[in-house]
Amino acid sequence: MTSAPRATPTPPTTTLADGIRHRFPIFERRTYVNSCSHGALSDSVRAAYDGYLAGLEDQGAPWDTWVGEQERVRALVARLLGADSAEVAVTTSASAGLNAVASAFDFSGPRDTVVVTDAEFPTVGQIWHATERRGARVVHVPRAADRTLPIEHFEKVIDDRTAVVSVTDVCYQDGARTDLTPVIELAHERGARVVADVFQSAGTVPLDVGALGADFVVGGMQKYLLGAPGAAYLYASAERTADYVPVHTGWFAAEDIFAMKVDGYEPAPDARRFESGTPPVPCLYAASAGLELLLDVGIEATAAHLDQLTAQLRSGIAGIGGTVVTPPPPASAAMVAVAASDDHAYVAALAEERVVVSCRAGNVRISPHCYNTPGDIDTVLAALYKHRHLLRR
Ligand SMILES: Cc1ncc(COP(=O)(O)O)c(C=O)c1O
Repeated sequence: MTSAPRATPTPPTTTLADGIRHRFPIFERRTYVNSCSHGALSDSVRAAYDGYLAGLEDQGAPWDTWVGEQERVRALVARLLGADSAEVAVTTSASAGLNAVASAFDFSGPRDTVVVTDAEFPTVGQIWHATERRGARVVHVPRAADRTLPIEHFEKVIDDRTAVVSVTDVCYQDGARTDLTPVIELAHERGARVVADVFQSAGTVPLDVGALGADFVVGGMQKYLLGAPGAAYLYASAERTADYVPVHTGWFAAEDIFAMKVDGYEPAPDARRFESGTPPVPCLYAASAGLELLLDVGIEATAAHLDQLTAQLRSGIAGIGGTVVTPPPPASAAMVAVAASDDHAYVAALAEERVVVSCRAGNVRISPHCYNTPGDIDTVLAALYKHRHLLRR
């Protein structure tokens, strides 16, 4: 039995979003619930870009300031992940960080195998499959029918040939979340390293990479971290990854960048060795402003707020006869994905209602963040209901 979303909107209560929403102008125009694709632009990120341009106009090439901006991003990412700054590389994409990591593995010995899950973002699968040209064997971990990655699936494939296990925290297609701790423990017990992709979870749930025990962690700035594409990060555990030295490199990865050495390779001893060329300076301005705003709001508070909004979404979607394909918490984080008969048509229909969402693999992805209100969720549900002929039941 389906019914229209409540005619009486959710009664206004004070939420986390109330104090910050005015800083994101898009909400004057649209109901924006597409943070899994790109975070909403804030006043401070816009001002940060202006600051970069003002520096160009005023000083020409203030390299010291720019390098300082990169260090600011490094320190903020370290705070976000519970890491040391020396364990963070500031990269230009998650792919760039992962490529550098992949280049540090030698597959010519007994550990010639990469274990990759079917829930990875395509770039992750592609980067690891590219190592087949260097002799690697790539083995896939399938998802269960409920879209999760049960530990038993890893138990079957991680063995003494496994060099590295590459696993996403949250799946980009549908928001299914992996229980990473047992996977990391298993991989370590069997002598393998782990790369965790937190692009779809960082900023929505507290992360502590030390407690997690991951060896490498990759992510980027433009989604829930409220920054911009072009800046990303790689965490490399100081304790467990010191022996991994990338072949994929560049002068900003050198121990002494400004030594301008052309006749040798002396990589930085810390995670900076995974960096490459000139940093994406404008994007670093955006990244630090976005991260500062988010860390001020607070990740714990954001996670609690998202628990409420996603629960409201789930019950509202069930109420209109829709199917949520995202597993229930704790196997999910901020995204709620709804099965659609034509996902692109549904996204377009919602856009006509000024509701911004996105889609992947037959599902409409609704991804609120700290700035969304219960009222936004009411608006999304009303728009989903209006176009309910596009639900896949
Ligand atoms: C989970 C996940 N990993 C990786 C990527 C790709 O990152 P990049 O384009 O920065 O390499 C994305 C992009 O949406 C993603 O959602």
